[in-house]
Amino acid sequence: MAINYHAEDRTITLHTRSSTYQMQIAGTGHVLHLYYGHRVDGMCLDYLHILTDCGFSPNSYENRLRREVSPDILPLEYSAAGCGDYRVPALECMSDAGLVGADLRYVRHEITDGKYALPGLPAAFAEAGEAQTLSLILADAATGLEVELLYGVFEAADVITRAAVFRNNGDAAIRLDRASSLCLDIPFGTGPSGGCWDLLHLHGRHCMERMPERVRLMHGIQTLGSRRGASSHHNNPFAVLMASDAGETCGECIGIMPVYSGNHRTDIELNQAGSVRVVSGIGGDLFAWQLDPGDCFFAPEVILCRTGEGLERLTHLCHDFLNRHVIRSPWKDKKRPLLINSWEAMTCDFNAEKVLKFAEEAAALGIEMVVLDDGWFGARDDDNAGLGDWFANERKLPGGLKPLSDAIHGLGMKFGLWVEPEMVNEDSSLYRTHPDWVLAVPGRKPVMARNQLVLDMGRSEVVAYLYDVISTLIQENGIDYIKWDMNRNIADTFSAALPPHRQMEVSHRYMLGVYALLDRLTREFPEVLFENCAGGGGRFDAGMLYYTPQIWCSDDTDAIERLTIQMGTAVGYPVGTMGAHVSACPNQQTGRTTPFGTRAIVAMSGTFGYELDPAHLSEEERRQVRVWNERYYRFYDLIHRGKYYRLTGIDRQVDYAAWAYVREDGSQALVNLVVTRAHANTHGFHIHLRGLNAQARYRLAEQVIEGCEAPDGTYLGGMDLTGRVFTGASLMIAGFTLRPMRGDAPAAQLLFEQTDAEEM
Ligand code: GLA
Repeated sequence: MAINYHAEDRTITLHTRSSTYQMQIAGTGHVLHLYYGHRVDGMCLDYLHILTDCGFSPNSYENRLRREVSPDILPLEYSAAGCGDYRVPALECMSDAGLVGADLRYVRHEITDGKYALPGLPAAFAEAGEAQTLSLILADAATGLEVELLYGVFEAADVITRAAVFRNNGDAAIRLDRASSLCLDIPFGTGPSGGCWDLLHLHGRHCMERMPERVRLMHGIQTLGSRRGASSHHNNPFAVLMASDAGETCGECIGIMPVYSGNHRTDIELNQAGSVRVVSGIGGDLFAWQLDPGDCFFAPEVILCRTGEGLERLTHLCHDFLNRHVIRSPWKDKKRPLLINSWEAMTCDFNAEKVLKFAEEAAALGIEMVVLDDGWFGARDDDNAGLGDWFANERKLPGGLKPLSDAIHGLGMKFGLWVEPEMVNEDSSLYRTHPDWVLAVPGRKPVMARNQLVLDMGRSEVVAYLYDVISTLIQENGIDYIKWDMNRNIADTFSAALPPHRQMEVSHRYMLGVYALLDRLTREFPEVLFENCAGGGGRFDAGMLYYTPQIWCSDDTDAIERLTIQMGTAVGYPVGTMGAHVSACPNQQTGRTTPFGTRAIVAMSGTFGYELDPAHLSEEERRQVRVWNERYYRFYDLIHRGKYYRLTGIDRQVDYAAWAYVREDGSQALVNLVVTRAHANTHGFHIHLRGLNAQARYRLAEQVIEGCEAPDGTYLGGMDLTGRVFTGASLMIAGFTLRPMRGDAPAAQLLFEQTDAEEM
């Protein structure tokens, strides 16, 4: 059993393959958190608590004579504001009778087989036998507020999910001002580093999302979050607590990943006792929820996982978990079609003839799907008009989308379409018909972004309308793929459909509407591949991945920039989720020119596709497209089902980036290396492979070097070691050095294959 209750010492223990999580119901009814760390069987770990009388840390009434027992110091399983715990609270609330906070005490618990679900919200799922659920109920006697803590224990996957349900069993309404799903107290001294922790998080901006940053925890509270109405380009919800001595391959790491795409918030507090509290879930200051008597509120899920074996192992746990238990699209296990997207090639400037020519050129190169991006609908000639009018622009596409879709299908290709359902331009018939469908504060001019407004997705009639329009589009035109965009953040969180006391619910109701629409469409059209997007990767999170198996990683398609963006993203999210395309050079975002092969190697480390005009390709580039399409197909399984290894680490100190994909059984490794900055008189690029079988022998089966040719055709790359045989141990321990490569952003792709050959 993954979950055990031990009546004698009143402990509840959750076991995953390599971790133990234990809590204890104290005599007062407080639920104490005892331990989360490497697996320890058959032991009550309450002896780890050190009780000391800390000045100005109060005591519960029952413990008024035991000053060493304070809710301000004790590790608590879940803590509310207002009851003597001054650390960052998981719950803040006030009842209509004026009672502030909650004194949460144990009521009952239940252990069941299977994984709980959260109505209307994305959440991890399990097949029979893969998970157990602990439901732990706490309540506040004064207000009647009940908090049900849910734990989904995935033993084999080494993951615990957390969620919380709030029920008002009292007679007065209760306003939840904060309703987090995860509260985790890590007692002083836990872990081999003696309790010194770093925080690794993924910050960014539009066109430069998810840059990893590792900082030492300071005393006080560090907050990560978004109040933009989307999980954001700026602060991804995923974060990792790393013991200060942890690195890629060693040390304690705890991953925290909210399964939510709206406002989120994670607070990490290093407090007076040297212990760390992590509180995570739905976002703080733009959230409140009114719970009338009898109502309940489901807070979004947070995935929790840990390892003592470093960040690499944590990455593998997250990738496997998202692939198996979060992404629900049938496409997750299917090879995605090799696509070409029209955006960088044509923006909104096209007509049917141009798109067809584009498709024919692409078909001749072996590309399998054309995606018609922004500009095909309403009065859309630029980004000032048309959003909301999801019918074809007859001037550009006479007779609508159907003739074009038929012609593209006639070429043996699939046809994909861009939509931005959540938005509307003032200059659109949708807005003219339903001006009250947008979020806008009465009496104020709305805040504009990209000259567009945000629809009130909390209204069921808006969701129903969008469902009708998009499902009709798909059905009538045989659409095979949808790129679902969201190109601004939300500002005026006022809904014409809600009373004043519910206006703080708007952002979450918005997300519930988006999820309801995605849920319905993806269930109704399982054969359609949905790719998520929000001005690139502005909503790259586990919540969106539940519905859409891939997300456009960034509007920055420059290969060198993408190295950081994709490496940061892949700390938590699997390779197959990252939308990545080869675009034209000079790159539209940076003006940089990189070799075609370098761009292809980087795009292959995601879903792979093209974002350029095939008519503008030279003969040599057309040859390259065919070569790299073939390599993409050949290595698809290795990249998408193999394990991903960062060979130059997250805090890369060198001017090259290297990473590898290794087959689960260690029999094949595809190593990629891109030089990000040229230097004279260098000694080459040294890497240590990982994930190989130490005793086995490996042949360097292929070595492709790209971008090392001088204009006169002279090869400037290093010595070719193709055919040489190494041992797994030599490649992992002694390492491998690629000879110097000269040129602008050259790249190498090396295939090592296990062999029986004896020669070295
Ligand atoms: C966003 C997307 C782009 C493209 C444009 C179209 O920025 O990220 O890929 O679809 O919108 O307006």
